[in-house]
Amino acid sequence: MNNVQLKVVIVGTGYVGLSTGVCLAYLGHKVVCIDKNKKIIDTLKNGVATIYEPGLQDMMEKAKKNLIFTDTLEDAYPDTNVFIIAVGTPSKTNGDVNISAVEKVAEEIGDILNNNCRPVIVNKSTVPIGSARKVESVIKTRLARRDIQCKFFVASNPEFLREGVAIIDTLYPDRIVVGADETPAINTLRQLYEPILEQNFSLPLSFQRPAGFDKPSFIVTDPTSAELIKYAANSFLAMKISFINEFAGLAEKVGADIKQVAQGIGLDKRIGTRYLEAGLGWGGSCFGKDTRAIVYTASQYNYPMELIQAAIRVNYRQRLNVVEKLQSIIKVIRGSTIGLIGLSFKPNTDDLRDAPSIDIIKKLIELGARVKVYDPVALNEFKRQFSELAVEYCDNVQELSKNCDALVLITEWSEFSSIDWEKVRGLMRQKVFIDGRNMFDKAYLEKLGFTYQGVGR
Ligand code: UGA
Repeated sequence: MNNVQLKVVIVGTGYVGLSTGVCLAYLGHKVVCIDKNKKIIDTLKNGVATIYEPGLQDMMEKAKKNLIFTDTLEDAYPDTNVFIIAVGTPSKTNGDVNISAVEKVAEEIGDILNNNCRPVIVNKSTVPIGSARKVESVIKTRLARRDIQCKFFVASNPEFLREGVAIIDTLYPDRIVVGADETPAINTLRQLYEPILEQNFSLPLSFQRPAGFDKPSFIVTDPTSAELIKYAANSFLAMKISFINEFAGLAEKVGADIKQVAQGIGLDKRIGTRYLEAGLGWGGSCFGKDTRAIVYTASQYNYPMELIQAAIRVNYRQRLNVVEKLQSIIKVIRGSTIGLIGLSFKPNTDDLRDAPSIDIIKKLIELGARVKVYDPVALNEFKRQFSELAVEYCDNVQELSKNCDALVLITEWSEFSSIDWEKVRGLMRQKVFIDGRNMFDKAYLEKLGFTYQGVGR
């Protein structure tokens, strides 16, 4: 390996910050991960991953000689090459994005830079258009206060990793986008990502290179375009999901099978097969927040984003379709018992942000149902965040099924593929199954006597 070892500081140890920090350390850079939450840092210092992300713990162990965890930027290397800002950027109620945490980190970075350094400051958090400029001006102001002459660069480097497969997405990305105006910044970031761009690192056993994977593209843009690329990518994927869900609704009416339709269109390379799974729609911390944010940004220019607004409407309507299906099959929801299989917004995460399960539970409770829930990983997180919701927690699918009038699959965890449906059938009051993710074989379940309803089938 001829890769250059850089000194990197990552501020924020959420999904993006921690996964990126651990991977960069694994790839050979010296990485300081910072979070102001001391409890998180103490846990990380003990070698324990603070988020549920498959393989992260193991990668932390493998990368530990290059990793430092701390709660203060004062522990940054004095000659840090790259500062990566990966703190939260929550939504405001009007859809705008609150970047105060990013600005705060920029201030703190401005307060520790010294005369001789030439660092690149990277915006990795999803931030609205103009944030690179904002970070630059904040740091300049702080440097001026201390009369420091530090030549620093700001770059936008949006992240495309998905929760649940964060390590794979980091090591084997389709592309790396760098939005920067100055060559030294671009060169430093090329060095930072060299092992990934050249794919010359030793492969971690549990994360082998996907078959057919080619070297990723390194795309250099101006900072504003890089910021827009992030929003355009997430909006497009969200729109693709809403598109297939809208067709799923029509497929139900005309008697078509959306899985066959998705395959039939997806094999056209111009369309592509991915993100065409009809179901309960998207959830999570990104698609909902980012689509609303870009609609808000455009509205500031008096420019309505019609497609994205429609995609948002279709997505939230999709969740409540489940309840309508239940009403049409079991008729009276009040007094019936409904079991939800899965809670997290997708498999391999305990993340419940904007999870379809929450809207569905609230609606069922409002309609007078008794709601039972089970999730392999997200149950504790659910208890912690939604203690006010009157649901019954179950430890497995069989316990969940007892006396249910209907079961609804919310999250397609792979362990559910081994559900013993014959046993489940014997435990239920009415044999109704709504397959919210089209995970199961309709013919098999109908043969067992279930009334089966998928999405768009
Ligand atoms: C998403 C993007 O995919 C990442 O590229 C991006 O970096 C990330 O947001 C972010 O901005 O941080 P993520 O939210 O982790 O990643 O999850 P995805 O795997 O993309 O799934 C999002 C939602 O779409 C899930 O609720 C999933 O169930 C749903 N989905 C996905 C479908 O309903 N159908 C599909 O075909 C695909």
